[in-house]
Amino acid sequence: MSCCHYYALADGRESAFSIDISSITFGPGVLGELGEHARMLGMTRVALFTDKRIGTLPFFASARESLHRAGLAVAVYDEVRVEPTDRSFLEAARFADEGKFDGYVSVGGGSVMDTCKAANLYATYPADFLAYVNAPIGGGKPVPGALKPHIACPTTCGTGAECTGIAICDVLALQVKTGIASKRLRPSLALVDPSTAYTLPGEVVAASGFDVLSHALESYTARPYTARAKPERASLRPMSQGANPWSDVGCEAALKLLGKYLERAVGDAADTEARDNMMYAATLAGIAFGNSGVHVPHGMAYSVAGLVREFRPRGYPQEEPIVPHGMSVIVNAPSVFRFTATACPERHLHGAACLGADTRGASSADAGEVLARHLIALMKTTGIPNGISGVGYDSGDIEALSEGAFAQQRLLTNSPRPIGKNDLAGLFSGAMRYW
Ligand SMILES: [Fe+2]
Repeated sequence: MSCCHYYALADGRESAFSIDISSITFGPGVLGELGEHARMLGMTRVALFTDKRIGTLPFFASARESLHRAGLAVAVYDEVRVEPTDRSFLEAARFADEGKFDGYVSVGGGSVMDTCKAANLYATYPADFLAYVNAPIGGGKPVPGALKPHIACPTTCGTGAECTGIAICDVLALQVKTGIASKRLRPSLALVDPSTAYTLPGEVVAASGFDVLSHALESYTARPYTARAKPERASLRPMSQGANPWSDVGCEAALKLLGKYLERAVGDAADTEARDNMMYAATLAGIAFGNSGVHVPHGMAYSVAGLVREFRPRGYPQEEPIVPHGMSVIVNAPSVFRFTATACPERHLHGAACLGADTRGASSADAGEVLARHLIALMKTTGIPNGISGVGYDSGDIEALSEGAFAQQRLLTNSPRPIGKNDLAGLFSGAMRYW
């Protein structure tokens, strides 16, 4: 056990935690091994998921070539929508169902990997869309059994979706972002090739890097697993089980790498050491949050991304307004950590120290401020907008932002400090601008 954080056991409280992870192969060039890995997993007829942009890139061609060299039949699905919806998930599932595949490969960012997870699920165990979606929006039906093998190959150093059993989408009719969460959705193998991220614009590395950073900080400061009620039986133990000693290890390691490499990776595309380490940090943080869950900054991010009006960040396609996921998360984070620090100040301070903040002489009462200030300094040096006003919001939006975030109870209940709707309004106010 890493510290006394977990020893406040009370009657009826959880006393066990689970560790579920994908197999992982990591290193520059491993995408060239894809075919052999697919064959070792028993695949003969492969559905290869990507999006229109990545489908034109040389590393995608070499991934497909590797599958062909291994003698596998391959059908490409490149209709994945960035920010998937229930409709786009179901279209992908129809492709999967008609193809009668015995294996799945996803090459892309979180949208591609999540769409592939959902297609695998609905083609293997058909059901009404909302059946598997998280309650209370959906039925929260357990996935009945194992899915077909899935090799997930991330191409941004951010989401960690290659290591999680979560698939996120918008439910169009309800105008809400939610998802499906099950250990069964976790890819069989994460094939992580950092060379796919060498050509990303610095702005994209910054946004995705802050997604990683917040995964690690939120997992590390999440409500401890020992604070949950003991489940009636093992199968009811949630995947987002709260902070636990296993996830702590990945969080601390990821934060140290981010402290060392984030600014370098954003500032210099030729710094492959930095970009390799950012990708490894993303994988470590994905392993961590896949077993603990994130909390308030991610819950607030759903609103910040979902209610966007005109914001078009540099480095991203300009056709549609968008607040990139990692950016929509980190603009909330300093405000949130100022608020949550009272629940576990030592963890907020240690998180800041892992990132490289000078915490000498800091007391528990300083913890939230020390962490927030360090994050704000990093945001400034890497070109992140100045809070939610920097992505187009003003005080007139706070009610709608709070309303949307309050619907994310799965994330809010993982907060170390209880969060009501009024608290959210205060947190959005605090996130309006930082400098
Ligand atoms: Fe995230």
